[in-house]
Amino acid sequence: MLKGKHIILGITGSIAAYKSAVLCRLLVSAGAEVKVVMTPLAKQFITPLTMATVSQHPILVDFFNPENGEWNSHVKLGEWADLYLIAPATANTMAKMATGVADNLLLTTYLSARCPVAVAPAMDLDMYAHIATQRNMETLRQDGVHIIEPGSGFLASGLVGKGRMAEPEQIVDAVKGILSEKKKSLEGKHFLVTAGATIEPIDPVRFISNHSSGKMGYAVAEALAERGAKVTLVSGRTSLAAPEGVERIDVLSAEEMWQACVERFEQTDGAVMCAAVADYTPVEVATEKLKKSDDDMKIELRRTKDIAATLGAQKGGRVLVGFAMETQNEQLNAEDKLKRKNFDFIVLNSLRTEGAGFRGDTNVVTLIDAQCSEELPLMSKREVAEKIVDKIENFL
Ligand code: C5P
Repeated sequence: MLKGKHIILGITGSIAAYKSAVLCRLLVSAGAEVKVVMTPLAKQFITPLTMATVSQHPILVDFFNPENGEWNSHVKLGEWADLYLIAPATANTMAKMATGVADNLLLTTYLSARCPVAVAPAMDLDMYAHIATQRNMETLRQDGVHIIEPGSGFLASGLVGKGRMAEPEQIVDAVKGILSEKKKSLEGKHFLVTAGATIEPIDPVRFISNHSSGKMGYAVAEALAERGAKVTLVSGRTSLAAPEGVERIDVLSAEEMWQACVERFEQTDGAVMCAAVADYTPVEVATEKLKKSDDDMKIELRRTKDIAATLGAQKGGRVLVGFAMETQNEQLNAEDKLKRKNFDFIVLNSLRTEGAGFRGDTNVVTLIDAQCSEELPLMSKREVAEKIVDKIENFL
């Protein structure tokens, strides 16, 4: 569950910081990659050396390294993370988070984080019970921050009551729960996705098609559905089963796919065109199987309709995403297609890159919009789908 997950562990100045080392160790041994951000005061409670050793990464405290001026980018850190866990979280840090104060790296990272955020409060019982702290925690809850409730018991002050940071094992369980929660950020939205290869019949037994497996499109449909969107998947030939909760419309030819998409596009909030649509189709389809003869044979082909371009022309405020698979001048061709088909962004996969393209479970893509171009590393098609859906959300 935690394998390969990127977690930022924020540590603030509380005596409970001694438990952060155990917490970090548990996360790392469960397979997570952990980067630690500390407030300046947290260093008084647990040393950066200890945390660097257990996290296997240098510790981040300052905005920049005073030795060489190297910038610790809270923006990149925020983008990298799947979860930002602040444990322990003091009353002071939670108050600042609640009001958007950004006077240390831990807090600027909070404001930059796009991922879920969880805090494990730790403080004396009176501080915890104080109306100001409770008010700040309520604000954080409303802002979508997960609060991992403290326990009751013996406190550092010598008093007994509620305020002890949850035990590291409980925090790890809470983290697993948060990471497995599906973001329902697209509830109420409707998307059309095309996927798979079209089939252009020559006669009752033969056809023209291509190598598309449909995996990328099905992964996009699944990722959209998991975030709560209604998904209509217009699917050409593939051997895949429809993802849970997705309505699948099976089509064969480019013409049928065009029809199915044009009929539905208007009711949607956007479309992702993953299908490998034939550009040409036989002018005539023989009703009987063509007999072979000793002569060569010619099949006359005509252009199919461009589904993406048709939807692009009637797009309005909808989000439209296309794919490009190029073998040469990749970037230029993709940018040209972006404009021509009126896409909001285009996903470029180059056949030249190892691990990209047809049939496989991985892909190497560049996401290109009118402003920027973002090259992603080798990822599973499902992970690429998540990135595409993240970007769609930015355009909505
Ligand atoms: O022009 P090209 O086929 O390279 O463009 C690729 C993009 O256009 C893909 O998103 C593909 O699904 C879409 N497309 C389409 N209808 C066509 C041809 C391509 O929707 N007839």
